[in-house]
Amino acid sequence: MRIALVSDLHGNMTAVEALEKDLSTHAADEIWCLGDLVGKGPSSDKTFDWAMRNCSVVLGGNWDYGVGRKEFHRDSFYHRQLGQRRLDALSALPREKHVRLSGRNIRVIHGRPVMGRLLNIQDSRDALAAFLQPDFDMLIYADCHRQGARTLGGQIINVGSVGNALGLPMVQYALLDGTPGDAPAPLVTSFVTLPYDNQAAAQEARAQPELPDAPAYIQEVLTGVYAGSMRKSAGQTTPN
Ligand SMILES: [Fe+2]
Repeated sequence: MRIALVSDLHGNMTAVEALEKDLSTHAADEIWCLGDLVGKGPSSDKTFDWAMRNCSVVLGGNWDYGVGRKEFHRDSFYHRQLGQRRLDALSALPREKHVRLSGRNIRVIHGRPVMGRLLNIQDSRDALAAFLQPDFDMLIYADCHRQGARTLGGQIINVGSVGNALGLPMVQYALLDGTPGDAPAPLVTSFVTLPYDNQAAAQEARAQPELPDAPAYIQEVLTGVYAGSMRKSAGQTTPN
């Protein structure tokens, strides 16, 4: 069984279209989305609809719950764009998916809010390994928009971000190949880094004058460098 693990689409439909084309070459049995469908980019309605149409598992991320529940007035652009039906669906997304593959217990989450704070893949051993408790062999998450893997008693995998990737401004996602059930067997994780038209994505954002924090988003799309300092200077403190 092959599962494509995608996350953090963040309203970047240019990146999602590149992802869709690439996925068609990998023969995945299922696509799972680890959350943050919306916010940041200019096309949250389209990336939400894509995830709901194509993914058999869709988990909620910090942005999905924050936008869906209208927690921040500054997100009113996204509220208007998405409409109440999509906001209600975002609010109701599940936080976790558990699966047994190749004899391993695998826990899949977005990151926050299951994690109380943003955890990067290089963060302290104890902070990350806690999420393997009580009996998981593998934790798969996203949230920090950078791919990575660690071995800390169990395996910890970060799948990266499709629409707002950091470190490398490409579409980042992962493939997981395993055998359903309890029998011990190989489990293969592959990281995909996919070039896409970053300039077109930036232009899509420029064409939407009401998009909040557009300069920060455009910088991230073009360079892969987190623009948190730009957001803080504008009174914004919600990262990734
Ligand atoms: Fe995110």
